[in-house]
Amino acid sequence: MTAGRSIVSISQTWCTPPKYIRAVREVFGGTIALDPCSNRHSVVKAETEYRLPDHDGLHCSWNFPTIYVNPPYGADRERGTTIKHWLRKCANAHQEHRSDVLALVPVATNTKHWKDYVFGVADALAFLYDTRLKFLVDGKDGGKGAPMSCCMIYWGSDVERFEGVFLPHGAVVDLRRLQGKPIGLERNAEHTLLFANGSLSGHGKHLLRVQS
Ligand SMILES: C[S@@+](CC[C@H](N)C(=O)[O-])C[C@H]1O[C@@H](n2cnc3c(N)ncnc32)[C@H](O)[C@@H]1O
Repeated sequence: MTAGRSIVSISQTWCTPPKYIRAVREVFGGTIALDPCSNRHSVVKAETEYRLPDHDGLHCSWNFPTIYVNPPYGADRERGTTIKHWLRKCANAHQEHRSDVLALVPVATNTKHWKDYVFGVADALAFLYDTRLKFLVDGKDGGKGAPMSCCMIYWGSDVERFEGVFLPHGAVVDLRRLQGKPIGLERNAEHTLLFANGSLSGHGKHLLRVQS
């Protein structure tokens, strides 16, 4: 679910509108080297673009200096993949190849993939201020726009530049202070107690202690 709506109802192929492509290029100093999940309607125009069926972006190399990702938002049943696989590739490309990576994704702060690949890992993000982000549908203005809240996540080396470019588009948050911190341990402790006790009743004392 995204902001209370089923992700299944959200198109898998909505393309990035020009204003964000311009912003992404500005962060990257002009060039988008790789778009790993493109289609024939896209106006991203990266130097290298992976397209199905010939090039599966989750299986081809991400060893490029600048990478922009607007992944399919729902589950791909044919390949058994979801957005978590795309976020993992983003985080890995930055870690393994020192790539600068930007990803336009739905805000999903309570999910495991955000906890694994965004918080404590990414360098910054921008919560975009569009009430309804107008993706391109088949290369054209798609009308009403998307119902979910979207953000641009940055795994990269120039947070100041990212902030300068994306502040006009939304609320920029520097995430670097979270790196290496034990995030959410209290929740984990609570979870462990719940699991150990097997039921909610009878361990209120433990929960109170953990939460105090
Ligand atoms: C939300 S669209 C974004 C298109 C383009 N990157 C843009 O932002 O304009 C996601 C695209 O990813 C493509 N796609 C889905 N799974 C893929 C995969 N495993 N490898 C490459 N492309 C894939 C879909 O065909 C779809 O066109």
